Parts: sequence; C-alpha cells; structure tokens
Amino acid sequence: MEAGHLDPDTQHEDLNGVIRQHAEWLAQQLYAQRESLFPPDASKVMRKFTSGEAATLLGVNDSYLRKLHLDGKGPSPEMSPGNRRIYSLTDIQELRVLLEKTARKTGDYLPGRREGDHLQIIGVMNFKGGSGKTTSSAHLAQRLALKGYRVLAIDLDPQASLTALHGVQPEIDLTDGGTLYDAIRYEDPVPIAQVIRKTYIPNLDLIPGNLELMEFEHETPRALAQGQAGLFFFRVKEALAQVDADYDVVVIDCPPQLGFLTMSALSAATGVLVTIHPEMLDVMSMSQFLRMTADLMDVIAESGADMSHDWMRYLLTRYEPSDAPQNRIVAFLRTMYGDKVLNAPQLKSTAISDAGLTKQTLYEVERSAFTRSTYDRAIESLNAVNDEIAELIQNTWGRGAS
Ligand SMILES: Nc1ncnc2c1ncn2[C@@H]1O[C@H](COP(=O)(O)OP(=O)(O)OP(=O)(O)O)[C@@H](O)[C@H]1O
Ligand SMILES: [Mg+2]
Repeated sequence: MEAGHLDPDTQHEDLNGVIRQHAEWLAQQLYAQRESLFPPDASKVMRKFTSGEAATLLGVNDSYLRKLHLDGKGPSPEMSPGNRRIYSLTDIQELRVLLEKTARKTGDYLPGRREGDHLQIIGVMNFKGGSGKTTSSAHLAQRLALKGYRVLAIDLDPQASLTALHGVQPEIDLTDGGTLYDAIRYEDPVPIAQVIRKTYIPNLDLIPGNLELMEFEHETPRALAQGQAGLFFFRVKEALAQVDADYDVVVIDCPPQLGFLTMSALSAATGVLVTIHPEMLDVMSMSQFLRMTADLMDVIAESGADMSHDWMRYLLTRYEPSDAPQNRIVAFLRTMYGDKVLNAPQLKSTAISDAGLTKQTLYEVERSAFTRSTYDRAIESLNAVNDEIAELIQNTWGRGAS
C-alpha cells in the first residue's frame, strides 16, 4: 500500500505517515499552482489608472486634470489605444505635489504628517482566525498609499498572507531571514531598515513575514526567565522608532493569537482596529479576546508603560446586509459599543475574495474584470471604511478629514 493511504481494513496506519504524505501532496499542488500563476521570477506591477480614477484619487475634476494636461503642466500621462489618458501612481503623486503648490490650504493634496504630527501605527487584530485582518490591513495600507500617505505595512503573522498578497513568496524570497523578527530578536537584532522592502506601489513599503516570526514567541519566555527580555513588548515600537521620519502610517497585520507578537504590536500601536465578522460564534470568542487583551494591557501598564492609544475601533467585516442574524448582531454591537464601531462596514463580496485568489486586492484589479455593480459596491464599501480610518488619523493630527 502507498504510504499515507488509510487502509479501511486496518485503520491503524500511523498518523505521521498520513500527515506527512498529505503535506507533501499539498505542497506539490500549491507549488504547481504558484508556478503557473506566479513564476518564481515574476514580480507584481501596479496597474495604471484611468483619468477619472486619477481625478477621484486626487480630489479634482476630470476636466481640471485634462486642462493641466493640455497646458503641459505635470507629468505626461500615457495614452491608451483608445486615446484616453492613463496615469501611473507615480504620475498621480507628481500631480499631488504640483497641486499642493497652489492649494488653497496646506495638505489639500498631500495628506501626510506635518511638523509635530506623530507617526500613526495601526494594529489590526482579533485572535479569531479569518475575521478579516489581512484583507482589511492590505486594503487599508494600499488605500492610504494611493491617497498619498507614506505607508509601511508589516506582516506580523507567521502564516504570511499579507506578504504573499504583495507578491513576496515566503519560501522562496525569504530563505535568509528578512522579517520583522530580525529587527526585534534578542540576539544581534538588525536595523529595521534592513528588512523593509519597496513594493510595486510607490508610497507603500512592506516588512514581510514568515514562520521565523514564531521564534519571537519561543524566545521571549526564555529571555524573560533569564531576565534578558527587558521591556520585550516595546521591541516593535523601538524598532519602528528608527524609521519614524520615513512614514506617515504603519499598518500591522497581526496573527490570530494573543501572543508576544500581538502584544508587542499592541504596545507599539497608536490606533487599534479590531475586525469582527458579525456572527454569533465570532462575537462570543471576542468577549474572551477583549478580556484577555485588557488583562495583558494591565500587566504591561504595571511595568510603567504608557498604554494609551489615540483611538480604537471595531470594523465589521464580510458583512451581508441581507442576512437577518448578522443584522441582529450588528445592531447589538452598535448599541453596546456606540461610535466605537466604524460606521462603514466592509461588505462581503465575491470581488474581494476572487481578487484574493489571484493574490490581489480590489485596488489592484481592473474594474473591467468584474460585473460593474459587484465591483462598485465592493470598492465603495472598502473606500468608505478606509476613508473613515483616514479621518481618525487626520483627527489625531488635529485636523478634519482630507
Ligand atoms: N469582504 C470580504 N468579502 C469576501 N471575502 C472576504 C472578505 N474579507 C475577507 N474575505 C475572505 O475571507 C478569508 C479570511 O480573510 P482574511 O484572511 O482577511 O482573515 P484573517 O483574519 O486575516 O485570517 P487569519 O486569522 O487566518 O489571519 C479570506 O479567504 C478572504 O479572501
Ligand atoms: Mg490574516
């Protein structure tokens, strides 16, 4: 009999063999699939934007953008086969800088930090698996980058979904380290700049993740026992301080556990986003999550650390407005937590999950790849969520929405 097959007559086959064989099959299948979708040397590129999309991102009329083009001001957009102007994100950023020069007030077009504004570090968390952390983190980080913020996205999850979504293949591209672990480990940490990489989106950098991050979970108790860990929960914060001036916003995608990595992200965060899929089982486990988080924060605060945050919000994810039980839970959460629940929910959409299958966010795919109404509904929901978060960021910098 082939290794790994369960023989119905002798249900005693050793489990190791079965599991090992299944792991092999899966790895081979995944490898083959990836080879066909993403050859090892493939690198992702960001699509171009129609003039209408560019105008909306910039917050100007399409006709004004056209006038700038006709007047020879700003970058020269590429012309499509249909003789339409199409803009790269680099073009859009150049336009932003140009428009800001004649803006009515500072920051109309460049929304990032100004003198005295502190770096925003947003931890996206919930220990419930599949609550939408990675999807929300990726769309938030990309939307902020598209809007002109300088963004650093950090994958703190050993499963590395955010990393894969950004075209970095943990098993191929990160064989020699390269995750945040290198910058927060107890022995010979490297400068954080060494693990930051550019992405195909001009304003977005990434610190990828992989299984090596688990080392931090293993080493911290050992370091604590030996009295070496110091304020271990500040290691992420301290590492980020090295590149504070380079970014406006950091978005951290946390693992689905309340371990040392998540605690360190929580201690670094200035804003906390808890993703909730509004279903009974998820909400029940959330009460546990909140209680444990509060206990842990107490422990950290006892050591004299400042655990104050600028804001904390719940984000409803994969919400289906036509689902009555979900609506009851949403109503219940909104009554209980009031304005701590973001107004805009992230809708469940096949456009979002389908884009995910090809390792893309909805901001990366072309509208023409989907039924228009499906795409529009999904992107409007994502924009509403992310722009509400951008407003929170602007508020902490003491100004209105931008
Ligand atoms: N709004 C949405 N509409 C449809 N599918 C979604 C949506 N958000 C997330 N999904 C899908 O749900 C699954 C789980 O989402 P995601 O990976 O973002 O959750 P997570 O909290 O990061 O999970 P984990 O705890 O494993 O890290 C993914 O397959 C994703 O494509
Ligand atoms: Mg995830």
